[in-house]
Amino acid sequence: MIKALLGLNLTVLTFAISYAALQDDARPEAGLYTAAQSQRGNVIYAKRCAACHGQDLAGGDPIPALASPDFLAKYSGRSLSVLFDRIGNTMPADAPGSLTPAETVEIVAFILKANQYPAGATCLPSDAPALEKLVLPKISAH
Ligand code: HEC
Repeated sequence: MIKALLGLNLTVLTFAISYAALQDDARPEAGLYTAAQSQRGNVIYAKRCAACHGQDLAGGDPIPALASPDFLAKYSGRSLSVLFDRIGNTMPADAPGSLTPAETVEIVAFILKANQYPAGATCLPSDAPALEKLVLPKISAH
């Protein structure tokens, strides 16, 4: 438990540093999604995803975690369209393609929040071309 907490603090710290570096690049200053988006995403996640991935996003063999170092290794440093398309095209596994783009992006916002990315004043866009231009900052979670 203590180890997990320490890991989390390190994650936040590393994130703060890389995030500051990102600001120098004049990318989104304040966060990639709004708190309202992630709150709506939380409600949809609870109904459509939690049964398999867990309410805490921890997954469970063979279902992957959606908030974890492995998850970040896969999706950070890449365009957010990758995660958006993955969810929109293949999830929920029992009804793929059934989410609207707005719902999909709200779930993405909720997943970003669960991975310690901060909320901001600007909505995460719900179309793939716009999301393609937004790279999820790399944070190392050891
Ligand atoms: C019926 C169980 C089930 C439900 C419901 C479900 N998933 Fe999944 N999900 C899986 C399984 C199994 C995998 C791994 C195999 C695969 O990719 O299809 C997976 C993989 C994923 C991945 C890829 C993770 C990675 O490491 O690359 C994402 C992202 C994801 N799910 C998000 C969601 C979201 C968001 C929802 C709700 C809208 C959802 N899933 C609902 C079973 C489920």
